[in-house]
Amino acid sequence: MSKRIYIFDTTLRDGEQSPGASMNLEEKIRVARQLEKLGVDIIEAGFPISSVGDFESVKTIAQSVNNVRIAGLCRTNFEDIDRAWEAVKYAKNNAIHTFIATSDLHLEKKLKKTREEVYDMAVAAVKRAKSYTDWVEFSCEDASRSDMDYMCSVVEAVIDAGATVVNLPDTVGYAEPFEFYEFIKTVINKVPNSDKAIFSTHCHNDLGLGVANSLAAIKAGATQVECTINGIGERAGNASLEEIVMALRTKPKAFDGAYTNVNTKEIYPSSRLVSKVTGLAVQVNKAIVGQNAFAHEAGIHQHGVLADKRTYEIMDAESVGIPENKLILGKHSGKHALRDKLISMGFELTDTELQAVFIKFKELADKKKIVYDEDLETIVNEGNSSYYDKYTLDHISLSTSSDGYPTATIKLTTTTSEILDSGIGIGSLDAVFKTINKMTPEDFTLEDFNIKSVTGGTDSLGMVRVKIADEKGNIFTGVSSELDIVMASAKAYLKAINKLAYAKSKN
Ligand code: KIV
Ligand code: ZN
Repeated sequence: MSKRIYIFDTTLRDGEQSPGASMNLEEKIRVARQLEKLGVDIIEAGFPISSVGDFESVKTIAQSVNNVRIAGLCRTNFEDIDRAWEAVKYAKNNAIHTFIATSDLHLEKKLKKTREEVYDMAVAAVKRAKSYTDWVEFSCEDASRSDMDYMCSVVEAVIDAGATVVNLPDTVGYAEPFEFYEFIKTVINKVPNSDKAIFSTHCHNDLGLGVANSLAAIKAGATQVECTINGIGERAGNASLEEIVMALRTKPKAFDGAYTNVNTKEIYPSSRLVSKVTGLAVQVNKAIVGQNAFAHEAGIHQHGVLADKRTYEIMDAESVGIPENKLILGKHSGKHALRDKLISMGFELTDTELQAVFIKFKELADKKKIVYDEDLETIVNEGNSSYYDKYTLDHISLSTSSDGYPTATIKLTTTTSEILDSGIGIGSLDAVFKTINKMTPEDFTLEDFNIKSVTGGTDSLGMVRVKIADEKGNIFTGVSSELDIVMASAKAYLKAINKLAYAKSKN
């Protein structure tokens, strides 16, 4: 009998815990909207008690993303639960996700609690959460290393207390598919009231088995999986959403007809967006969304694919939203053609947004012979900033030679004045950044700086991503793509500084 599998997306919570992956509010809202379009069932939008920023983003997503359930994570203490509720209560469909570890290792070393104490905390937490919302998820952290009898007693008690979903994570990615199948099956069979809850899993990828373990859990009776776009997450990451969804779709019989509600054509746009806003590149040979996932190099393969795609392809690139026609508009293309192309790529823009994208597209098309889908995607994703810009880059020139120091001369306009300055550095970009530092009084440290070519080739757009942190550790990112990487670097740096200045002006 076929069964519906709920996709619980935790890109914005566990995914954001990937080292270096933090996103700002605007980026999180864009990701949440894209996940809604993708058709996930639940978005775990953050961990509201962990910071004011997390609280605000969960709350804003709850207020603005309507067609999907919004969950907030919390530990079992009441302050955490209340804070989670304060953030998710704005969503039409909300959920509180509370968790505590059940393995003896975590109890003894981390929580310093007895089994009885943890049992009581779990039950009390679920009751408290249930007093706020109908949809309460309880997770036994480190479930796969917990004592089976003890963990089952906790599971039974939380279901009695009102848990809607019981999640059994492989927190440290230690399980393997055969034992994990038995593990999930045993819990479902052993817990007398298991038919009153949805069973879920959440697998980490430390041994590269996150997806395999999630699929084993589905086979064993779980009807919810927790996963992330591109598999990002703590350490080696979480099970990747796109791999689970496409495995179910490509081999339904192997999973007894299990299916999801995901609109698979939105997988690739989601992957690109998450990669862009987190700065975490997708490995080229990554299944489903990697650059090489549908590429054929060997002549014998190319010949086969030309004769019949099925010889070497088990899925259609288009079914995951990879546009077949990579080559697109040129400098003579008009706004209508641009709009049609963007719609085919999944972007529906307002007239004002389209106009802004059109101007950038024309500028690029004038300089570059071919404008690819990736170029357009970059322009769209960078174009819709709602920040008020304190600094605008008016002019930049650079002199450099094989001996001596590169010198940058920069002119910025602020709301009240024009500033001109120059400075030297040990390299061209160092000179640019140091000069901008002299011209802007904001206090911050550079956390990350990354340059990537958008389409490959020397005439490719260079995409620069800069991350800065203020004195409280708040992160601000700036992304800019230009044919000239010095220009892109200066613009990305200024975007990040503008965001920081904007945040300061709001406090
Ligand atoms: O990995 C884990 O166990 C978690 C829980 C909070 C669900 O992320
Ligand atoms: Zn996790």
